[in-house]
Amino acid sequence: MIRRLLAWVLAVAATAGAGVSAQPLAQPLAQPLLDWTEEEVTLIARHGPWPLPPVRDPSNRVSASPAAVRLGEHLFYDTRLSGTGQTSCATCHRPDRNWSDGLARAQGTVELDRRTPSLWNVGYGPWFGWDGAGDSLWAQSIRPILDPREMGAGTGRVAALLREDATLACGYEKAFGDRPGRDDERLLVDAAKALAAFQATLVTPRTPFDVFRDALVNGDRVAAARYPLAAQRGLRLFVGAASCNACHFGPRFTNGEFGDVGIPFFVRPGEVDSGRLGGLARLAGSPFNLLGSHSDDTTGEAGRRTRHVQRLHSNFGEFRVPGLRQTARGGPYMHNGSLASLDDVVRHYSEVSPDRLHSDGVPLVRPLGLSAEEQGDLVAFLRSLDAEVPPRPPVPPLCP
Ligand code: HEC
Ligand code: HEC
Repeated sequence: MIRRLLAWVLAVAATAGAGVSAQPLAQPLAQPLLDWTEEEVTLIARHGPWPLPPVRDPSNRVSASPAAVRLGEHLFYDTRLSGTGQTSCATCHRPDRNWSDGLARAQGTVELDRRTPSLWNVGYGPWFGWDGAGDSLWAQSIRPILDPREMGAGTGRVAALLREDATLACGYEKAFGDRPGRDDERLLVDAAKALAAFQATLVTPRTPFDVFRDALVNGDRVAAARYPLAAQRGLRLFVGAASCNACHFGPRFTNGEFGDVGIPFFVRPGEVDSGRLGGLARLAGSPFNLLGSHSDDTTGEAGRRTRHVQRLHSNFGEFRVPGLRQTARGGPYMHNGSLASLDDVVRHYSEVSPDRLHSDGVPLVRPLGLSAEEQGDLVAFLRSLDAEVPPRPPVPPLCP
């Protein structure tokens, strides 16, 4: 302990000026604090503060409405939204499994080609699905309801359910101010908008990283030094030599865009998952995109990204950059669940073959050649983005 303290004092003395704030040591530090440079502190500060303010989606008139959140939560667990009556959103997005299912590939009526992503922090968008085929959370929520491989309910079935089930009809009226009407497609979209309002409330708690980040920004060295040293070293790599923050940027640890990190795109012999390239085509062809009549945004602002996004050949094999909060509780990883653990993910980045990277232009990923200790440090950092989640209270009744 004494020796560590001494090491820290010497480190501070050596870097005085370059360090955060070389304040005199008022209290002994729990363990050494790395000599963070001002530039590093600036980079780390960009990953917070957390939590972000709640989102309001202008394309969804019931976004952030408590009555819609409640209706959405009921619909989320309702197996009647599926053709077989057996599957709900929660079958794949399980609250006790990090809002995913722990499977490498989602299991619907058949096995799908992609993994079920977690729904944590999903409200912040702007693109949804591994390939960005959705430009709003509500549009993305329609897809599984209609897709025969997932829930396969059909528009008429969802509309009839909202009209005919007295409790759901009452919940609908509370959320939308009207009894369910005759327009089936509109009712399907409204169900999805309530589902979206609910999912936007799924925000991860503060983590050891957030406490460290705030302490560092505020110059509170005592609090900062409680952050494990391995996580500090991993963080230094993350924002430094390993450049993970080129894509895993900002408070959610994603820039919300797409990238190619060399995960194979073959689904089965002769068949590929083209990722973002196919997603953009599906987005353009969807009647539910933000340029269509179902958006509640009257300014045209919400559809701006969708209007201007270009489909480029380099989008082939790109997948959405996942946020990294709470991922240590998830796994398997990547769009196809091909990596089992965080150790495997970090090893992938360390050893990825440049030939695997099929993007045009300048690849942002290169084999990092990390030592075993560095790999362990990165994993320790990733684990510090994880917090204990209190158990969810029972779903409150819709119309008592
Ligand atoms: C059979 C399993 C399954 C069911 C049931 C299911 N999902 Fe999903 N969900 C997935 C998979 C797989 C993806 C990734 C899809 C893709 O990228 O093509 C996904 C993606 C999503 C996303 C995008 C998340 C992101 O990070 O972009 C949202 C939102 C979502 N689902 C909500 C729902 C809702 C709401 C329901 C119920 C109406 C539902 N899901 C039902 C498997 C499922
Ligand atoms: C070029 C942008 C880019 C860079 C740089 C990058 N990532 Fe990623 N990361 C992605 C993309 C895109 C995926 C999803 C790839 C897929 O599913 O095919 C991903 C997936 C992940 C996952 C899995 C998350 C999940 O839910 O499946 C982890 C963990 C991760 N990256 C950590 C890191 C670390 C650590 C570094 C630095 C060593 C890093 N990333 C560098 C873009 C990037």
